[in-house]
Amino acid sequence: MNAVTPMIEVENLQTYYGASHVLHGVSFHVNPGETVCLMGRNGMGKTTTLRSIIGLTPPRHGTVKVEGTNVTGWPAHRVVKKGIAFVPENRGIFPNLSVRENLIMASRPNRQGRVDWSFERVVETFPRLGERLDNMGNQLSGGEQQMLTIGRALMTNPDLLILDEATEGLAPLIRKEIWSVIKTIKATGIASIVVDKDVKSLLEISDRGLIMVKGRIVHDGPAAELAANPELHVRYLGV
Ligand SMILES: Nc1ncnc2c1ncn2[C@@H]1O[C@H](COP(=O)(O)OP(=O)(O)OP(=O)(O)O)[C@@H](O)[C@H]1O
Ligand SMILES: [Mg+2]
Repeated sequence: MNAVTPMIEVENLQTYYGASHVLHGVSFHVNPGETVCLMGRNGMGKTTTLRSIIGLTPPRHGTVKVEGTNVTGWPAHRVVKKGIAFVPENRGIFPNLSVRENLIMASRPNRQGRVDWSFERVVETFPRLGERLDNMGNQLSGGEQQMLTIGRALMTNPDLLILDEATEGLAPLIRKEIWSVIKTIKATGIASIVVDKDVKSLLEISDRGLIMVKGRIVHDGPAAELAANPELHVRYLGV
């Protein structure tokens, strides 16, 4: 067992969409400050796992604990108040608010009342957003939108950041910027769960890697070990 209380601990998650059984007993944990990547081919259940943790698609069986508190069955709005920020696959900015307004709307101190990520710091981290503060959300490129979504997540001063498809659909240069920001976030001690198709970049920034196949975790180990075992990538990820 862990000596520290995990930031997140899930056990035996069984999640369904109607009659369709998607997660078949998912168990893993994320320690405070740890970066964990969740990998797997299309349709294996990565997004469903994230949604089960947050409470958007509650599991039918199993438990979700946040810092030791059993939050299974809690509504999502209550779960995220435990210090979690969720960046969904399709992002989620307000198109008719400016960049500045999008950021300020999200602002809140962490549970101890501290503001590690102020508006100024977020803008410093994403200089591109700084140049577009008065642009409306819908005037941004895909990359800028993703930066704004991550910026908004940071404005909530989370202890855990969950990023689904962190760099999906973005140009190579923007992808690089996003990976480097994820590293910066990690260096500030925020734990994260990151989903992406770019296995190489994921393993570079992660402490630990999880591989999912058909609703089950089939591998859970140090990212360095995964990076050194390309046969696992071929077997489970098809890359
Ligand atoms: N709202 C839904 N209703 C019914 N089935 C769904 C729903 N969302 C996902 N599924 C199914 O659940 C399974 C897992 O989907 P999920 O989105 O969790 O996979 P994923 O690993 O995130 O895939 P991707 O890499 O394509 O994002 C798939 O078979 C998918 O078709
Ligand atoms: Mg997905």
